[in-house]
Amino acid sequence: APAVPVDPASLPPFASEPDTNPALPANQEWARAALAQSAEPGWLDALPVPPPGDRASPPGDRASPPGDRAQSRSSLDRTVATARAAAAQWAARPAAERAAILYRAADLLSRRRGHLIAVAAAEAGKSIAESDPEVSEAVDFARYYAHRALELERVRGADFTPDRLIVVTPPWNFPIAIPTGGTVAALAAGAAVILKPAGPVPRCAQVILEALWEAGVPRAVCVGVYPDEGPAGEQLLRHPGVDRVLLTGASETAALFAAWRPGRPVNAETSGKNALIVTPSADRDLAIADLVHSAFGHAGQKCSAASLGILVGSVHDSARFRRQLVDAASSLVVDWPVDAAAAVGPLTEEPTDKLFRALTTLEPGERWLLRPQRLDDTGRLWSPGIKDGVAPGSLFHRTEVFGPVLGLMRAHDLDEALALQNGTDFGLTAGLHSRDLREVRTWLDGAQAGNLYVNRGITGAIVGRQPFGGWKGSSAGLGSKAGGPNYLMLMGTWSDAPAAA
Ligand code: ALA
Repeated sequence: APAVPVDPASLPPFASEPDTNPALPANQEWARAALAQSAEPGWLDALPVPPPGDRASPPGDRASPPGDRAQSRSSLDRTVATARAAAAQWAARPAAERAAILYRAADLLSRRRGHLIAVAAAEAGKSIAESDPEVSEAVDFARYYAHRALELERVRGADFTPDRLIVVTPPWNFPIAIPTGGTVAALAAGAAVILKPAGPVPRCAQVILEALWEAGVPRAVCVGVYPDEGPAGEQLLRHPGVDRVLLTGASETAALFAAWRPGRPVNAETSGKNALIVTPSADRDLAIADLVHSAFGHAGQKCSAASLGILVGSVHDSARFRRQLVDAASSLVVDWPVDAAAAVGPLTEEPTDKLFRALTTLEPGERWLLRPQRLDDTGRLWSPGIKDGVAPGSLFHRTEVFGPVLGLMRAHDLDEALALQNGTDFGLTAGLHSRDLREVRTWLDGAQAGNLYVNRGITGAIVGRQPFGGWKGSSAGLGSKAGGPNYLMLMGTWSDAPAAA
């Protein structure tokens, strides 16, 4: 591994990585070139996936015969044992060394921005407007947790023993930021990691792993396991050598993982059913822009997405507001393969039954303001949909659909709007558009969600500024939020002894 500076003072102060400015012609050219490459036939298939030696079972081996399973079990045992042994040395290195390596990984990810957005476009259909900030977030996670590692060692070092081995299971909808975030958090704390990417996006994960290895993370400390929902996936999560699982995914998945690991840690950020309230005092133009971006960015495939707009009184009743909202949504460029101009790409996979119902049918009382259109034969490309008249307690009010449909509800006043916003089992993100400070205070006191946003969209939390994580049904054993000051404290065990002076 290359020499690394060990002086903590040599790390620059944390600063958010800027996104690419899409208004500059040179950047438009850069984006076009990156995306053109990804659209070439065979380009994606030629990219590496997590390497064969690290696989729990061969790719595509979803129904392997029992003999193969036994074999994959022994290879899994070896992977786990090697990672645990390597973790002891990794944890023994000064935090400043681990931090310097993560800073270098951040620089490599930043330099590979064009490649990452191309891979995300090809694997997940992610538009550049969505993947570019994801690269910035990944870079931020690596740098931010590097600083937190120094702090953890300085302030609480004697009390904290990092886990030996953490399995990171990210979702497919943020194939760059979330795998990076979980992995670098665990590494910063001093644990080894097995990263098991989500099924559709192993190549994005491979780019991240390569940056970490190249920066100096030993290969045995950070391992990729080819995604596999079959027996090997379950074996990995049940494995006694795995101290902790960091999951970002559906609530049902969190429940399954918890059942596989009775009494052992699973820290999960899960589903949401998020609403943005607009009161009559709001800047309506801004509210429309934020609603549209929060609802339809990445075709609504975000746990943080605005699935409901709760419009108070005259906002709901304004024909002008509704017309502008529909105009804004229908002016989004929806395209696939995504090009530099596309605001919205395809669904990463064919719609689930629940999403298909939400895209094609109405519940009692609902009517389409903008009916979603299926735009191609695959069933994956849909134009945005807006339905009005979502009824309190209806399926659409209460369940996550994870796609490009926004439902509108009318509330008489802010109290009623808050009750509707809180009236689900979830509590991930929530928003308010209002220019009345009393309303803002009332709302901040009453809103039941982990991330509250005022006069801003409700997606795109910024590392270090808006730590991300929910409550109620949106988290399971999360404890502290990703991208926040205490996240690394999750990644180990604490002694009762007072901190060394
Ligand atoms: N952290 C992601 C967001 O805030 C999920 O949108």
